[in-house]
Order: sequence, then structure tokens, then C-alpha cells
Amino acid sequence: MENIIIREIKRLRGKIPLPADKSISHRSVIIGSISKGTTKVSNFLKSEDCLNTVEVFKLLGINIFFNKENQLIIEGKGLKGLKQPEAALYFGNSGTGCRLTAGILAGQSFKSKITGDESLSKRPMRRITDPLRKMGAEISGKDNANYLPLEIKGGRLKSIEYDLPIASAQVKSSILLAGLYARGRTCLIEPHKSRDHTERMLKSFGAKIEVEGLKVCIESQTELTARDISIPNDISAASFFMIAACIVGDSEIYLEGVGINPTRSAILQVLRKMGADIRIIHKDLNSYEPIADIIVKSSRLKAIKIGEEMVPLLIDELPILMVAATQAQGRTLIENASELRVKETDRIESMVTNLKKLGANIKSIGDDVIIEGPVKLKGAEVSSFSDHRTAMSMSIAGLIAEGKTQVDNIECIKTSFPDFHQVINKIIF
Ligand code: S3P
Repeated sequence: MENIIIREIKRLRGKIPLPADKSISHRSVIIGSISKGTTKVSNFLKSEDCLNTVEVFKLLGINIFFNKENQLIIEGKGLKGLKQPEAALYFGNSGTGCRLTAGILAGQSFKSKITGDESLSKRPMRRITDPLRKMGAEISGKDNANYLPLEIKGGRLKSIEYDLPIASAQVKSSILLAGLYARGRTCLIEPHKSRDHTERMLKSFGAKIEVEGLKVCIESQTELTARDISIPNDISAASFFMIAACIVGDSEIYLEGVGINPTRSAILQVLRKMGADIRIIHKDLNSYEPIADIIVKSSRLKAIKIGEEMVPLLIDELPILMVAATQAQGRTLIENASELRVKETDRIESMVTNLKKLGANIKSIGDDVIIEGPVKLKGAEVSSFSDHRTAMSMSIAGLIAEGKTQVDNIECIKTSFPDFHQVINKIIF
């Protein structure tokens, strides 16, 4: 079991190297594979989760490789070009890889089997299998297809109109991808807005997709056309260091080429509302995904209320935001964050348990989280709960905790941020 030891630091300065966006990297493999022609992806995230998705599409008959310039080359075979895999499709730890690909498998006339690691096998799948079954796919799995392994046999789907019971980009994307294979026009309505990377990428590959507020519709498609894309750096990964810079005294950091898609960048607004000193420069809004450079300085933070409608827009940033809240003046309330309970681990449980060990004043009531600050944290031994975002959030908390903080079982970090350890080591020595 690997662990990391973090010490309190007095300043954080300079440019922080960031990984590419995980959500968009997954989508580039999935959408590139079902497009006609060669898609060249620059700045692809070579993390465990995304590489599992690459292996899955290789098993589905797509030629995918890295060229000498380290770009990912996907030789897409079109909507109907996938072949029946000879082995089970293993998605490791990744809900995104698994749920999005299930939408595509629902449109194939062959049978396939989806598996994952221990954590993914405990995560709910009925949220995708219900709508995909409604569209006509045959899906079997434990507890009426709520858990992996799932067996999917699809083909000849019909379009549906679907009210999503939860605001989830994974569920939305799974239905939209299946919609490419369905007769007619598939529409869905989200209860709150979630990240729209799938809509943007599908559109830029030529899909007929219409978005009006919370409603998204897609037409069945004869073919998508391959194109070259570049992946922005990951704003969720950047958030760990944005918050580190805010809470460590005498800090100023520079983050380059960060994706600032409005459905992902609520963290910037929230931190500003909390009083953070953040500058956004060199905006490039012309690509399929907007990017910018971000400068963050030490800041005196104040508490904030995060309402339910904000939760999907901040879903991956909430664990590190809890760390920020321990240093903010007043009472921070995060309302109805029930979706945090079904991530790689229960992130309400993992963060409340760990931050309490560091002396934070934090509690959960139902699915609300309440944090009173500021409190001087004290180093302790904590666990990742096998969740990459808990591991990274606690490592950042360690930077402001008195003495030594040990975060156990941090192998999981490689699912999204393979160089995190190296970046942290440079910061603390
Ligand atoms: C993701 C959507 C979110 C997020 C996950 C990535 C995506 O999950 O937590 O890390 O790439 O679509 P949900 O859609 O389940 O909320």
C-alpha cells in the first residue's frame, strides 16, 4: 500500500503542471472510434481510467495508438464499424468510461459484457440501464441490471423522450450516444444542468444535436466525421492547486490552458464569491471547448452556501471545496450532495471522517455538509478510501496542517492525475 507524507508549507509559487481533462479524454476515444476517418488527439490524458477506455475500444476492433508526437491516433470505423469483442470489456475504476460506452453498446447487434474493479462494481447502473432498456436494449446484470458485470445486447433502438431523475452527465451522455443508433429523435430533460462535453464534441463531429435550456435532443445519425482535437487541461485537477494557493499564505500560482467550459467552471465563481483572488487571462473561446490561463493568490476566504442546483456543476470539486471551507470565515453549507455518496467512494463519508481527524469542524446531516471555519488543522494519518479525489483533497489539506499528514492508499490517484505525487513532492521540498 502506497502512502504519501505531506508537511505544512509556508508558500506556494510558480507554474503548476496539470493533467489533461479526464472527461474530455474519455469522450475523444469513444466518439473518435465511432466516427468515420482518423481522429488525432493532442494532450490526451494517459491516466489509468482513460487508458482502460482505449483498451476497450481496441477490443471492439478499433486501431488506436500513440504516434511519435505522443498524440493519440484513433482510426474510427464509423457508427457501424465496431466488432463483437472476444473478451469482457474492463473499465477499471471509471464510471464515465463504463456508462458512456454502454450507450454505444446498446446500439450494437452483438452481445458484450462490461466489468470493472471493486469500487465500480458497487456503483449504481440502473440509472443507465433503465433508459437504455426503454430504448430497446436487452441488458442483464445483478439486482435487475443495477450492478456490474452487465451483459448488453442491443441494436434496432427506438428513440425516447426521457426525464432524467438525476442531473448526471454520464447518464445524459449514455442516452445521447445510444440516440445516434435509435430511429428518430431522442430527447431528454435534465433536472439541473450538468457538464456538456458530450454535446459539444458530438456537434463538432457533425451530429445533429439541439440544446434548449435543460432539454437536449439528438437525431439518429448516418455518420459522424473524424477530426483532430486538442484536450484542455483539467479544471477539476487545477482546483486542488487553486485552493492550495488560496489557503497557503504568500502564494501565487499560474495554471495554463485550463478548460473553462461554463458547465465545469462554477468552481471559479464559487471561489470568487468566497473572496478568492483569481485572475483569468488569455481566454480562447474559439475552440469546441473554451480554455484560459488562471492565476491564483493567497486569499482570505469567507463561508458560502452551495445550493442543490450548483451541486452538478461542482460535483468533482466538492471534496476540495470542503478543505477550503475549513479555512473560510463562517459556516459553509453544501446542500443535498447525495450524488457524492455514489462516486468512487462515498465522498461525504470519506471527507467528513478525514477532515475531522485533522481537527476540522465538519459534519453531515443527511446529504448536507456543514463546515465551520476557520480552524487551524493538525496533521494526522488519513485514508484515501480508495478514491483519487479524497486522496488529493487530503494531500492539499496536509499542506496547511501543523506537522505531518499521512495519506494512505494513494495508488488510486493514477486514475486521473498520474503526476500528482511528483508535483506535490516538488512543492513540499
Ligand atoms: C463525469 C460526470 C460526473 C463526474 C465524473 C465525470 C463525466 O459524474 O462526477 O467524474 O465525464 O461525464 P455523474 O454524471 O455521475 O455526476
